Amino acid sequence: MGGVIFWQGQKVEFCGGESAASALARAGITQLGVTGTGQMRGVFCGIGQCQNCLVTFDGRTVEACLLTCRDGMVLQPQERASDDG
Ligand code: FES
Repeated sequence: MGGVIFWQGQKVEFCGGESAASALARAGITQLGVTGTGQMRGVFCGIGQCQNCLVTFDGRTVEACLLTCRDGMVLQPQERASDDG
């Protein structure tokens, strides 16, 4: 069963079992934030290894590629940290 998640206030539909990274990509959202060094965050490996898709969900930093969508989830770009890559 699908539903809707919210990315920076934008509604994004997802299909049942879909990852947040996949749902966002299908909606044309590929830039997920900016690293502390100013590089774009987005999906690279898709398997939870590169940490390039980090986003904030429920006050925690999580990999969007490993996060299974649930209806009503609110996601934001990760706060820009000075010590990350
Ligand atoms: S894309 Fe590499 S950890 Fe998510």
